[in-house]
Amino acid sequence: MRSNNCGNLREHDINAIVQLCGWVDRRRDHGGVIFIDLRDRSGTVQITVDPDLSTEAFNVAEHLHSETVLQVSGKVRARPAQSFNSRLATGAVEILANEITVLNNVTRNLPLPISAHNEENTREELRLRHRYLDLRRKRMSDNLRLRARTIQIARRFLENEGFIEVETPILTRSTPEGARDYLLPSRVCGGDWFALPQSPQLFKQLLMVGGIERYYQVAHCFRDEDLRADRQPEFTQLDIEMSFMDEEQILQLNEALICAIWKSVKGIELSCPFPRITWSDAMESYGTDRPDTRYGMKLVTVSDIVQDVGFKVFSSAVKSGGSVKVIAVPGGNDTLSNVRIKPGGDIFGEAQAAGAGGLAFIRVRDGGEIDTIGAIKDNLSEKQKFELLHRTGATPGTLLLFSAGKTAIVNKALDRVRQYLAHDMNLIKPNCANETWNFVWVVDFPMFQFNSDENRYEALHHPFCAPNKIDLGSDQAQWENTLPSARAQAYDLVLNGIELGGGSLRIHNSTLQRQVLQTVGLSPEETQEQFGFFIDALDMGAPPHGGLAFGMDRMVMLLAGEESIRDVIAFPKTQQSRCPMTNAPSRVAYKQLTELHVASTWVDRIDD
Ligand code: AMO
Repeated sequence: MRSNNCGNLREHDINAIVQLCGWVDRRRDHGGVIFIDLRDRSGTVQITVDPDLSTEAFNVAEHLHSETVLQVSGKVRARPAQSFNSRLATGAVEILANEITVLNNVTRNLPLPISAHNEENTREELRLRHRYLDLRRKRMSDNLRLRARTIQIARRFLENEGFIEVETPILTRSTPEGARDYLLPSRVCGGDWFALPQSPQLFKQLLMVGGIERYYQVAHCFRDEDLRADRQPEFTQLDIEMSFMDEEQILQLNEALICAIWKSVKGIELSCPFPRITWSDAMESYGTDRPDTRYGMKLVTVSDIVQDVGFKVFSSAVKSGGSVKVIAVPGGNDTLSNVRIKPGGDIFGEAQAAGAGGLAFIRVRDGGEIDTIGAIKDNLSEKQKFELLHRTGATPGTLLLFSAGKTAIVNKALDRVRQYLAHDMNLIKPNCANETWNFVWVVDFPMFQFNSDENRYEALHHPFCAPNKIDLGSDQAQWENTLPSARAQAYDLVLNGIELGGGSLRIHNSTLQRQVLQTVGLSPEETQEQFGFFIDALDMGAPPHGGLAFGMDRMVMLLAGEESIRDVIAFPKTQQSRCPMTNAPSRVAYKQLTELHVASTWVDRIDD
């Protein structure tokens, strides 16, 4: 149907006879001559329709609407100097049309503009409802290509390293990755349910037992969890597993993979190795296991300095086992008013949203004098003041923001305030302008965290991570006691404060695996029922193995400079986990439910 792509025509094509297909991006009638910008996936080119050359073509062109699908035949010619368009790759040429065929008409009003000339802020709901139109826009089309390229590079890299892609089942049992499962009733085995995989975790480990040694998969994963800009119920992992490799080798291989992707996709040489930070240092200095290291304002613990300054919030936080931490905001004394920090203010609001009661503050004035609420100032000795300024690195003009209470809440509050202020004060240079790619491996995660609501330990990653050998000790009889506080041989790759991927070395010893499942509260019977098939396999020659999974949507989002993974997924779901285009999820016929041996307990709410 076509000899060339619109966007590829250049001066060296002048005089060629071409046949093009595409969409009418826009049409301009210049009284006598009509210009059409014809667009296909490669770009746009100008078609000039002159009635003196072809009356038929002109008659068709006179009635064209945007987005009509055309086939155009004509001759490539140089554009006259005055109409040369330097912003367009094809701007030096145009096609003099001698035949235009309408391949399909647009018979409805278009709900959103498509041409880059009319780009406007279309509501996301509308974009998703008519995603096929949104995909015609340059931004989305570029993003999907970037996605395909990223996956292609990853595949090529891994295949060169001897990895093979293996598909694992979508209809499966639940894998405990911490989210709710999507469940599917079985028609054939009445009363039984499949779960869609939250990740291929168990299967990839079983592939290692199966001697595959180096596996990868571009894997679809499903998690029924509350959505955010970087979370979708259905998402894609680059899932990797390998045998006979230690943690260091796994990290190095994955750094090389990331470097290959950034080099090919962005033309950037990243410096390797990536920095590493232990989980406990990340929590101490950033209050989160996803530290954004592009800017300072680290959290500093000052419990020992301020516990006796006569400020009850501080002293009781420390007395009850919590802490007082502070972030030093450079220049904050001049730019951040008390109104913003006190109740009702936006900065206060950030801390409160994280569960904190509020923020105490100290302003460091010129000459190092401090100014603050009475209780702290009145009781702070010169030595304490010196220590405080010294430890936080505060200089004149700094604003010190304090949070006191349970350490977990203090961390959460100051992490949130730190991120908020970094954006508010423009401390982050945009990626596209400055290419700031701060990768950091977070290592040495704890195996478990204690869930005080449920009064039990839960796995921080998942219960298949291998514990640190030193923390565990070699005496099996002691594992019950050593495991709960052990560190895991687990690692996350964080980029600019976003968790890009995570993984670990795995347990390949069945006794240890049973002990871990017991620690997270599974009885021996439950362990056997849910994981018996897996643990049995460990006893049949499971090699030492480990791996990780990258969130491909997040990786592409960052590479594309987008702020939501919805903009790099062809057909994403909304915040309510719906697809506004197909209207999924939707009701099904009663007959379908009965075939599946399912009865719905849902009752439609009737508004009075
Ligand atoms: P984890 O649960 O950390 O590990 O997931 C790996 C990566 O997947 C991405 N991710 C998501 N992306 C979009 N939407 C979501 N809802 C979502 N949830 C996770 C993140 C995350 O870092 N089986 C283990 C990996 C392993 O141990 O090998 C796992 O799934 O980028």
